[in-house]
Amino acid sequence: MTENSTTASPDDVDTVACVGAGVIGGGWVAHFLAQGYRVVAWDPSPEAEQRLRELVRAAWPALEQLGLAPGAAITNLTVAPTLAEAVAEADFVQESAPERLELKQSLLAEIDAAAAPHVVISSSTSGYSMTEMQTRAEAPERLVVGHPFNPPYLVPLVEVVGGDATKEWAVQWASEFYRIAGKSVITMDRELPGFIANRIQEAAWREALHMVDKGEATPEQIDLAMTAGPGLRWAFFGPCLTFHLAGGEGGMAHMLDHFGPSLQAPWTRLESPELTEGLRDAMVAGTQEVAGERSNAELIEQRDRRLIAVMRALSEVDAQEAARSGSQQ
Ligand SMILES: NC(=O)c1ccc[n+]([C@@H]2O[C@H](COP(=O)([O-])OP(=O)(O)OC[C@H]3O[C@@H](n4cnc5c(N)ncnc54)[C@H](O)[C@@H]3O)[C@@H](O)[C@H]2O)c1
Repeated sequence: MTENSTTASPDDVDTVACVGAGVIGGGWVAHFLAQGYRVVAWDPSPEAEQRLRELVRAAWPALEQLGLAPGAAITNLTVAPTLAEAVAEADFVQESAPERLELKQSLLAEIDAAAAPHVVISSSTSGYSMTEMQTRAEAPERLVVGHPFNPPYLVPLVEVVGGDATKEWAVQWASEFYRIAGKSVITMDRELPGFIANRIQEAAWREALHMVDKGEATPEQIDLAMTAGPGLRWAFFGPCLTFHLAGGEGGMAHMLDHFGPSLQAPWTRLESPELTEGLRDAMVAGTQEVAGERSNAELIEQRDRRLIAVMRALSEVDAQEAARSGSQQ
C-alpha cells in the first residue's frame, strides 16, 4: 500500500506530529496519546503549550475511562521549538492550523519540505479542498484531508479524501492508519464541499435557522425536537436505516413509494431532489446493503436495545450531575 519502503506501515507508526494545537489540534494530541503514540506538537503561539497541556490533562480522565492503549501516557507528549523539529522524526503529520487558505497552502508546503519523504501529511480542514491547499508543496501526492469532529479524542468519525495531485496510496495509508488509531473512517473517492457529515448537519441547521427566522419554532423547541427525537436514534442508526424501519416490512422501498410524494410538500425550505427511479433504486439497494442479513425484527431489536442504552447512559450522567450539584448546595 505504501509508495516507498521508507514509509512506516500504518500499524508500525510510533510518532505522530500535530501541527497547530488549538481546539482541534489539541484534541488530536489527546487522542493519539491515548492510543499509545509518541506525539510531537508545534504551535507558534506563545500560550499554546500551556493551553495544550491543560486540554490534554482535562481530557485524560475521560480517555482513561474509555480505556488507554498499552503504553499510553501524557508524558509521551513533546512540544517542539520549531516546525521542522516537530515533523522531522514523525511517521505521520496531522495539521490543524487556522482555517485560512493562504496559511494552509504555505504551511503544508513547509511541512512537506521538512517531513521525511513519503510520510503522509493530513489536514484537519473543514472547508477547503486538498486540491486548493496542495498547490505549493513539492510532493503533493502525500497530502490528504483527515476531517475530524470535535472533540477528536471522543468523536470517532474522520473523513479522508485526497486532492487532484494526491496519490491513491496516501489516501489508503491514511485511512488504514486512522482505523488502527481507533477512528471510524470514511474514505471518500472525490472531494465534496462540506464532506459528508457536515452536509447532513448543515441541512438540519439551515432548516432550524429558517424556523427561528420565521418565528415558527424556538431554539429550545428545536434542540428538544432533536435530542428527544431523531438525535437519539442517529447515534447508532443513520437516517437511511432509520427510514428503512419506518417503511415497516416493505422497508426503504415502501417508505419511498409511500412518503415520496410528501417530498414535494412544503415541509422544508431545502429544495428536494426529484425522486427519480434511479434515486429510488439507489436508496433501496444502498440501505439494503447497510441492513445486510438482518431482518426487520432483528433491526428493531437492535434499535431498541441501543435506544435504551443511550437513554440509560444519559440518565446516569443526569443523576450524577444532580447529585454533584445537590452536594454543592
Ligand atoms: N473547531 C471545530 O469544530 C473543527 C472541526 C473540524 C475541523 N476543524 C478544522 O481544524 C483546524 C483548526 O481549527 P481549530 O478550531 O482548532 O482552531 P483554533 O483557532 O482553536 O486553533 C488553531 C491553532 O493554530 C495555531 N496556529 C496559528 N498559526 C499557525 C501556523 N502558521 N502553523 C501552525 N499553527 C498555527 C494557533 O496558535 C492555534 O493554537 C481548522 O482547519 C478547522 O477548519 C475545526
